[in-house]
Amino acid sequence: MERMLSGVKPTGRITLGNYIGAIKPFVSYQDEHEMFIFIANLHSMTVYQEPKELRQNTKDLIALYIAAGLDPEKVTLFLQSDVMEHSQLGWYLTCLSGMGELSRMTQYKDKVAKNETIGTGIFVYPTLMAADILIYNPKYVPVGDDQKQHVELARDLAERFNKRYSETFTIPEPVVRKVGSRIMDLQNPEKKMSKSDKSDKGCIYILDDINISKKKIMSAVTDSEGSIRFDPKNKPGISNLLEIYSTLSGKSIAELENQYQGVGYGTFKKELADLVGDELAKIQARYNEIIQGDYIDQILHEGAKKAKLIAAKTLAKVERKMGITIYKR
Ligand code: TYM
Repeated sequence: MERMLSGVKPTGRITLGNYIGAIKPFVSYQDEHEMFIFIANLHSMTVYQEPKELRQNTKDLIALYIAAGLDPEKVTLFLQSDVMEHSQLGWYLTCLSGMGELSRMTQYKDKVAKNETIGTGIFVYPTLMAADILIYNPKYVPVGDDQKQHVELARDLAERFNKRYSETFTIPEPVVRKVGSRIMDLQNPEKKMSKSDKSDKGCIYILDDINISKKKIMSAVTDSEGSIRFDPKNKPGISNLLEIYSTLSGKSIAELENQYQGVGYGTFKKELADLVGDELAKIQARYNEIIQGDYIDQILHEGAKKAKLIAAKTLAKVERKMGITIYKR
């Protein structure tokens, strides 16, 4: 089976965007791939996290992974901070990267453009992410559209390392789904749905009250044309709702356009709101069972052991090739 790896940050509450763009696809890949899915808690430290909240968000995320359908028997689930090799390889990759290429990363550029206070962690974020990936030599990295550029940097760094020190890393391929890889804000469909947003009217949270989430769908911004068709440029609101509908129902966009021909926006939204509500209800019921026991600790413990075995081997190889190691450990 080919290896696949991905992660999600435990910052804020997990959104419908994270679910559709990442977690749901992970579930669909688990039977055909050897999967490593982790919680990117080191990346979450690039902005201040209130410790109590971080602890809760981390627990919630692992419970959500399982509630969404990831099977710990099939998938290695672990905390990034439990496998310290990520940070060590991250440093070597930082040393291999240039200021120019890191300055071109959209995530960093956006923060500069918004005049936000920027910690150094944000700047070197992509090299740690490259280490997360390369240390397991996965063939595929499933991510939402916004993370594709980071996976591309990981490819560049892998190629650079291989060229300089000889063939070491597999060149990973980003897997970005055609539909659902960029779920937009329901109030401002020109903008990505994001957990770090100040206003939450346009954002659905997986663990939020279901009626609130349904209301958010009902009041999603659309347009005045009145026809349900996919046209992201001219009809970003309706197109976004169609993408959400398609990924949750398994129906293609074309099928949905057909099904809703001549139907009003109100009916369409109501049916989508019910679909979203049903999906959230299923996840929340399982989440409530999982979050109570000590099942999570056990899974993370096992996952870290398995992940570390591979990560330590890769790191040893890297250090040998770079001339860091001078004696047999
Ligand atoms: P994070 O936590 O921001 O997002 C987790 C995943 O959710 C996807 N995503 C979306 N997909 C569709 N629509 C949206 N509105 C939306 N918002 C978020 C993201 O693209 C991502 O796939 N840097 C990563 C975490 C990470 C990682 C890694 C991922 C750290 N190391 C190594 C893969 C491999 C991040 O911040 O994801």
